[in-house]
Amino acid sequence: MEGSRPVVSARTALCGIVLHPAGHTRSPAMHNAAFAALGIDAVYAAFDVPPAALGDAIAGARALGIRQLAVSIPHKQAVMQLVDEVDPTARRIGAVNTLTLRDGRLVGSNTDWTGAVRALERETALDGRLVAVLGAGGAARAVVHGLLGAGAKVVVLNRTPERAAALASELGADRGGALSDLAATPADLVVNTTSVGLGSQESPVPAEALRPGMVVMDAVYEPERTRLLRDAEARGARTIPGKWMLVYQAAEQLRLWTGREAPVEVMARAFDAAGSRAGRPDQAS
Ligand code: ATR
Repeated sequence: MEGSRPVVSARTALCGIVLHPAGHTRSPAMHNAAFAALGIDAVYAAFDVPPAALGDAIAGARALGIRQLAVSIPHKQAVMQLVDEVDPTARRIGAVNTLTLRDGRLVGSNTDWTGAVRALERETALDGRLVAVLGAGGAARAVVHGLLGAGAKVVVLNRTPERAAALASELGADRGGALSDLAATPADLVVNTTSVGLGSQESPVPAEALRPGMVVMDAVYEPERTRLLRDAEARGARTIPGKWMLVYQAAEQLRLWTGREAPVEVMARAFDAAGSRAGRPDQAS
């Protein structure tokens, strides 16, 4: 039952997330709610692991037979050297956010891109649409990869345009540019992957660059209605809060481990409930 405490036995599988600082990550809430809803005998914990201890943590996870380990800030690149295998998609993106135990080997994959694509697909088809991705860091790489795979055309716009151009040419997007180019870009969709707006009232782009009919998604999810999303609504655009990216990347993790479709609405409610319990900004995933 949703919200009930799991009964831990000798057969219970252990899963978790490594990140630093652990803060108030909502991943345990989402995954434990999904386990309960699906009747999966597993528990999911949060492990606060500083960078210097990551190697020991991964070796320990392997030795203990932890079935799945999510990997978050700041470990998504460093962990690639520590696993037994990195799948080709995660290698192309350059980041691993999920370790799944297969035949005693820890396999690294990336579900951030799936999370972005599924969250966008709640509102709109992607094939043939023009998407402006704001930002050129690790999160942008995952989002751009996912969008190109879904048939979208992508322009990458960043505070530092050279980083956007490099990312665009490496992953095969149309072009890179500056954030100020958004106003002159006939984008159907806008996805913010910069950290601008996290716990603040700032937006990476001026409201005037947003247009009616656009779909605007923010990877920032604290606050849930960021300045970017409020501006987009006021301009007549449709909006998708960043919570859905987190829910769908977690859903894909569950599918990778169990092969089962995740109860996304249950996970979203658990995400909301964990946020109101914490009552303060959360760590990324
Ligand atoms: P992540 O892996 O989470 O994407 P990152 O690699 O540090 O994190 O990337 C952060 C992104 O947010 C970058 O695109 C960064 O722009 P720069 O490449 O110019 O640094 C963007 N960013 C961070 N602070 C910003 C700000 N105040 N205004 C605009 N963009 C900002």
